[in-house]
Amino acid sequence: MIIDQKTELYGVVGNPIVHSLSPAMHNAAFSASGRNAVYVAFEVRDLDGCIRGIRALGIRGVSVTIPHKSAVIPFLDEVDCLGKRIGAVNTVVNDHGRLLGYNTDAVGALKALEEKIELPGRTCLIIGAGGAARAIGFMLRDYGVYLRISNRSHRRGEDLAGALGCPFVPLREAKGIQADLLIQTTPVGMYPHEDQCSFSPDVVRKGMLVMDVIYNPLETKLLKIARAHGCLTIDGLGMFIHQGAEQFRLWTGLEAPLSVMRQAVEQALKRNS
Ligand SMILES: NC(=O)c1ccc[n+]([C@@H]2O[C@H](COP(=O)([O-])OP(=O)(O)OC[C@H]3O[C@@H](n4cnc5c(N)ncnc54)[C@H](OP(=O)(O)O)[C@@H]3O)[C@@H](O)[C@H]2O)c1
Repeated sequence: MIIDQKTELYGVVGNPIVHSLSPAMHNAAFSASGRNAVYVAFEVRDLDGCIRGIRALGIRGVSVTIPHKSAVIPFLDEVDCLGKRIGAVNTVVNDHGRLLGYNTDAVGALKALEEKIELPGRTCLIIGAGGAARAIGFMLRDYGVYLRISNRSHRRGEDLAGALGCPFVPLREAKGIQADLLIQTTPVGMYPHEDQCSFSPDVVRKGMLVMDVIYNPLETKLLKIARAHGCLTIDGLGMFIHQGAEQFRLWTGLEAPLSVMRQAVEQALKRNS
């Protein structure tokens, strides 16, 4: 590719950022679409300075990741309804100097789920109550899914359950829950701690659809257990690709080259393993 005076700059801001797969995914998408754009990773401690830098340099858009997804909101000119309700933004669009915030994690999870199951009327147990759980919870509630929230810290779990208008279930009682869907949203089980699971495996029952938002490894301990029970499983890669595709659409107005993005992330995962 040629980098010249017209090259648009995009990136991801977070800390740590060294393991991010977003540069591989978005650069592959820009290249496949013939877009004169590059996407780089910024390790950011000073969020205020970072936002001023985005404005000053005319950076066209950024992904926002841990730990800045909520903290970034006060620095933006506008946040869409979903981002406000979730209280977290993972995408910033620089619209001629106005910084607009969105949350594409929610739509990413929705699209990954819809590839496997019809959602309205289902029951779902969400494990976790952080940013990913909030994004998934608000989106599923809007799609007519009956939710239950389980979380290590009761206070945070009860807060999310209260915001969603659904019951909170302490983790030790989760095995009694009858649910069509089980969605694991904590970082427990992620590389290099692949032998861990955030809750007791007896929560998993035959017939459930089990999703883990983790994508490194693709098959977490939880998904192995679910497969052994004959459950349909969804790894975190689908959500990651779809949330990235939505970011690409917000930044460029173009449909994202999904298969190219998936291939780039799978290759990056292989290189990193
Ligand atoms: N696939 C995707 O596209 C995608 C998108 C977004 C996020 N993610 C992944 O989702 C995960 C969570 O991200 P997040 O933004 O929601 O993080 P977060 O806001 O920090 O929330 C973390 C959640 O995990 C729970 N937790 C953390 N450590 C735990 C442990 N040792 N045992 C039990 N529960 C524990 C926390 O419980 P407490 O309240 O008790 O602390 C909290 O509910 C990360 O691995 C992230 O990479 C994936």
